[in-house]
Amino acid sequence: MLLNSCSAHSAPPEPKAPFSLDSYHVSEELGFILSEPLRELPPYYQPWMDIALRVPELVLSHELRSHIHKMPLLSSSSLQKYRELRLAHLTLSVMTMGYVWQEGENDTVEVLPCNLAVPFWEVSQRLGIPPILTHSDGVLANWRKRDPEGPFDMENLQLLVSVPGGNSVRGFFMVTLLVELAAVPALRSIPTVINGVRCRDTEAVATALEDISQSIQDMTDTFKLMQVHVEPSVFYGIMRIYLSGWKDNPSMPKGLVYEGVGTEAMEFSGGSAAQSSLLHCFDELLGVKHDEKSGAFLTRMRNYMPPAHKQLIQDISLQPPLRSFVQQQASEHLNRAFHLCVTKLLALRSYHINVVSRYITVPSARARQLCKQNPDLEGQIISRAPKALEERGTGGSGIMSFLKTVRDQTKDALLPEKNKETNLT
Ligand code: HEM
Repeated sequence: MLLNSCSAHSAPPEPKAPFSLDSYHVSEELGFILSEPLRELPPYYQPWMDIALRVPELVLSHELRSHIHKMPLLSSSSLQKYRELRLAHLTLSVMTMGYVWQEGENDTVEVLPCNLAVPFWEVSQRLGIPPILTHSDGVLANWRKRDPEGPFDMENLQLLVSVPGGNSVRGFFMVTLLVELAAVPALRSIPTVINGVRCRDTEAVATALEDISQSIQDMTDTFKLMQVHVEPSVFYGIMRIYLSGWKDNPSMPKGLVYEGVGTEAMEFSGGSAAQSSLLHCFDELLGVKHDEKSGAFLTRMRNYMPPAHKQLIQDISLQPPLRSFVQQQASEHLNRAFHLCVTKLLALRSYHINVVSRYITVPSARARQLCKQNPDLEGQIISRAPKALEERGTGGSGIMSFLKTVRDQTKDALLPEKNKETNLT
């Protein structure tokens, strides 16, 4: 990894060790993606795997809850390796989402039975993530290659476990996984930027920012695969509820009691790529500031990330500010590189807003309209969508105003003279 040394420059020597990604569970090749996720747990846990692999089918036949009631209460203490814990969390989380939402939004449950709740709670405590399906489960730890020697692409990737929604679920998780992969060069360049600022090495910082810009552009290009692999009516009408949580959700106003863990109901947000550490890292690096309300939601989402990734975001935020460095250096190259980087992040967020419109706003308007008519098959799928989720994200946010605010706050990170020239929105 490229670690800039200050010794070649005239600035005073920097006492700290160079910033590196080594201690943050970030892989050189895969970034935040879990390398080589396990496909099997030790044989003792077969009862979990047997049900988890059949969640879509058992939900659709309305049998998942009864299978889970019959499942033995297993001790989590035989799970030892980190990858075992990640696979256990993934399997227990898909069972939990299926259990809660099996009958849609009108017949939810208030209690998660102890044979699921207790081990899920224990595994979550050991991993430092909440007992619900998170981005780190559904996307980062839920993949395998068909051909182990083959490429990391849509054709060669498969899910380990799923929720109802067929190929669109695969498309949604796998495209998001490929967006994570496209961001790896950007992640690798973050230490170069930080060390370059510490050493006041203008050229190194400018070049690393150009690399980050290219990587963010690649993320946006990869994101475009979503429309090839994910059907809006299936996303909106079938699969979205299984990603939804029990915080700020009118369908689960009391939250969920984890039986055997405590008697009080608990509230957790559903899975969302707002829980991906990528944009949080970029925001902290580039000095994108969020207002109290959107900032509170985004900060809360950090509690759904593996703790080492959350720590990386925190540590990036503590570094000497890049934005002030760019202003002080008055280098045209550095200014342009910084401007390009913020502009690419802005474009990614603008594209994301289009995607959300296509997958949520448009189908939700259609669902409202269809209530008054006899819908065709696609219309029937859409109109089955949960009403409580119409205006909300799975993480529980009021979607569009939140996303537009966050996008506009990205624009505010542009330096004043460049800001005037940009009219991307
Ligand atoms: C069909 C695809 C997608 C839909 C419908 C979608 C929807 C949403 C919604 C509704 C939110 C609001 C927060 C919440 O309630 O959770 C959100 C936030 C967010 N999503 Fe997505 N999303 C999609 C794909 C992605 C992908 C592939 C990424 C990867 C970068 C991503 C990154 C984010 C981020 C970073 C936020 C937080 C807001 C921000 O920082 O701009 N989303 N998404």
